[in-house]
Amino acid sequence: MEPSVYEYPSIFRRVHMEKPGEIEEETAFLEKVWRRHLKKPVRRVLDIASGNSPHGQILAREGIRVVGVDRSPTMISAGKNQSRYDLGVRFYKRKIAKFSLPEQPFDVAFFMSETFPVLISNRDLLSHLRSVGKLLKRSGLYCIDIDKMDRLRAVRERRRWQRRKVRTADATIQVNTYDRPFPWHSGMQSIFELECRIDFPDRTVTTRDVIPIRYTIPPLLELAAMASGMFEMIAVYTDLSFVTPLDECDRRWMGVLRRI
Ligand SMILES: C[S@@+](CC[C@H](N)C(=O)[O-])C[C@H]1O[C@@H](n2cnc3c(N)ncnc32)[C@H](O)[C@@H]1O
Repeated sequence: MEPSVYEYPSIFRRVHMEKPGEIEEETAFLEKVWRRHLKKPVRRVLDIASGNSPHGQILAREGIRVVGVDRSPTMISAGKNQSRYDLGVRFYKRKIAKFSLPEQPFDVAFFMSETFPVLISNRDLLSHLRSVGKLLKRSGLYCIDIDKMDRLRAVRERRRWQRRKVRTADATIQVNTYDRPFPWHSGMQSIFELECRIDFPDRTVTTRDVIPIRYTIPPLLELAAMASGMFEMIAVYTDLSFVTPLDECDRRWMGVLRRI
């Protein structure tokens, strides 16, 4: 089986077209949301599908206690290498659909990088929210960053969608993305296939990730929050702004859930 691009932490950020300063901007926005809606200091933070927890690393340097959960041992060990034990992020290897942690309750949780729509089934969606809810203090916030998918790409057979080349300090990567067909009656509205041919100076590796996606819009998140019995959705923000209306959303939106 071909490896996942997440086995190459330094490469996936370029593949996802992350811009310089984006993580800092996102972290600053999260802190603004917490000031606006929590109104008490944030001391303990849970980063969901944290990868190496780039947002958490920034918060940990500010003295906040951060815990990251992710299923990928490679991403976690990259995060551990970036963290000083006393000041850094603490990691747990977990799948996010249903999990628990031997940790005291958190003030806030966040799920960044537009990965939330991988929770496809109603069961996973609700057990995920309940898992996070159990780890949050009452009135704690859960901020979820979701991309705006404004064009469903239903296909009858696997079809190429995008093709681009990106470079890192030590590799050139040919990125091809494909759409795959999916059953009309399932919870998913897309199956995204990401293929990367990575040319290192001494070898070539091809990675492949097949990612079923559930098109998540604000009313679905609101419904899931209600159905979980643990959250209410208290705000929706677009493109890291408090003022841009949903109609003008360009790329992404953030749902803010409050633990009830
Ligand atoms: C796009 S990366 C984002 C990582 C990090 N939040 C960031 O902003 O850099 C997505 C992460 O989600 C993790 N992930 C995807 N599906 C998961 C699942 N079902 N359970 C746990 N982790 C998962 C992957 O291992 C990967 O580290």
